[in-house]
Amino acid sequence: MTIKNAEELEGLKAAGHAVAVTLKKMKEFTKVGMSTREIDDYGGQLLSEFGAFSAPIKDYDFPGHTCISINHVACHGIPSEELILKEGDLVNIDVSAELDGFYGDNGGSFVVGEDIHNHRPLIIASQEILQIAMNNIKNGVRISNVGGIIEREAKKRGFQVIKNLCGHGIGRKLHEPPTEITNYRDRFNTERFKKNSVIAVETFISTKSKYVHQQEDGWTMMTKDKSFVTQHEHTLVVTDDYPIVLTEENGVFEF
Ligand code: CO
Ligand code: CO
Repeated sequence: MTIKNAEELEGLKAAGHAVAVTLKKMKEFTKVGMSTREIDDYGGQLLSEFGAFSAPIKDYDFPGHTCISINHVACHGIPSEELILKEGDLVNIDVSAELDGFYGDNGGSFVVGEDIHNHRPLIIASQEILQIAMNNIKNGVRISNVGGIIEREAKKRGFQVIKNLCGHGIGRKLHEPPTEITNYRDRFNTERFKKNSVIAVETFISTKSKYVHQQEDGWTMMTKDKSFVTQHEHTLVVTDDYPIVLTEENGVFEF
């Protein structure tokens, strides 16, 4: 959506606050030995305390309040009682919700317990690249240019980007135009970022694979070759300068 007045900005800020605090608290809550269902239940409780509704449930009938994706799963991981977190697992939590008609979306990857598999460089790359993307998103900049920067920065660090997952417009629904804010230069996309438009920018940085594939459950998006993927996401308002970060409080740059 494009913000037209102060009330809309306030509504978006409230939704951004709810998802950001929920994500941060879920990350702090996550421990070795927990099931991803237990973490999701906690997230669902936090959202309801804000009066917010899970966007994956509301908009897509997803079987969980949030998406919790482990190791080779890049996104849309279904919270499960059978999925017990082990030392050194790479965890991604993505929280999106609607509050009073406005949506917020954010996510972050981190290691549970000790980083015995050395996922840290992939996490740092994703954080740094999201920050670089945000530094470059301004009114009038081509969306594909930022995608090109994201891919270049990933390759510079010895990593790849996932080409079939992307950021998106947001506001009155979870997914709105611009529908594809890719992590690579899409030469067919001539669209530019527009002032006051609301977007969710999310990195998908991979150790090797460039694509993820949907599993039989109809949701889970996983790499075929056991590549690991990290994602960090903020909801932003585009300005003539640095964007307004609606999900600032999630602290994903410190994950
Ligand atoms: Co998200
Ligand atoms: Co998103």
